[in-house]
Amino acid sequence: MAHIVGAITTSHVPAIGRAIAKGLQQDPYWKPFFDGFPPVREWLARARPDVVVVVYNDHGLNFFLDKMPTFAIGAAEQYRNADEGWGIPTVPPFEGDPALSWHLIESLVAQDFDLTTCQEMVVDHAFTLPMALCWPEMDWPVRTVPVCVNTVQAPLPSAQRCLRLGQALGRAIASWPADQRVVVMGTGGLSHQLDGERAGFINKEFDLQFMRSMRSDPSWATQFSTTQLVEQAGTQGVELLNWLVARGTLPDQVRIVHENYHIPISNTASGLMLLEPMR
Ligand code: DHB
Ligand code: FE
Repeated sequence: MAHIVGAITTSHVPAIGRAIAKGLQQDPYWKPFFDGFPPVREWLARARPDVVVVVYNDHGLNFFLDKMPTFAIGAAEQYRNADEGWGIPTVPPFEGDPALSWHLIESLVAQDFDLTTCQEMVVDHAFTLPMALCWPEMDWPVRTVPVCVNTVQAPLPSAQRCLRLGQALGRAIASWPADQRVVVMGTGGLSHQLDGERAGFINKEFDLQFMRSMRSDPSWATQFSTTQLVEQAGTQGVELLNWLVARGTLPDQVRIVHENYHIPISNTASGLMLLEPMR
């Protein structure tokens, strides 16, 4: 049977892609951010995942405001990246895993989560940058399944609903008959707001409380309505919903293998966590 070897949650700021392209990893501005990743890469080398399920929000590359599924999942042989206008080089395509995708779709629909199924899908910076931080060679030694959560256009799914989606996704992965090692990624956040009166808003206290809750009390964030989450974390900080989906795939008891928090990267409070299930 397939099993989840761990979850990685991280921010996905486009400027990271420009810093990678310019080789700025040791630059004083970038070093505290990039220094978060070697322990994750060392863990990945030991964990040897076959597949990564990447939970993220599309920012207008694959879906636009005219058609916005609350939840969507890829079921393609391959996922290509494309220019989003951020000035980041595009990255090599990612291999999909249609057999796993269809198993997840069947299982999730049976558990009353009706995701939009995408047999063609392009993946944006929220997918590609966390992958590039984990595999800087960009040779992608894993197959991938993209899962999109609408954190962009109201109404957004509630924190409760996202945690439950994660729990259902965890059960779906565990019921896949193939003997495969799976990592679940959740990308986005932490607190940031890119526009409006509060542009530049960051809430360190909230972020650190949220990161603490990821270990032992993942339902902590479900006390907040979506509006309250936006108040606390910013209009784009609500991307933390993707972290909740990833956390939901793990059992109640987890071990924090590694974490990092740094302010700011571009406009964003960047967070990183690597969690392992305790069995
Ligand atoms: C930034 C952060 C994001 O999450 C994003 O999708 C785009 C830009 C930023 O901080 O610049
Ligand atoms: Fe984003």
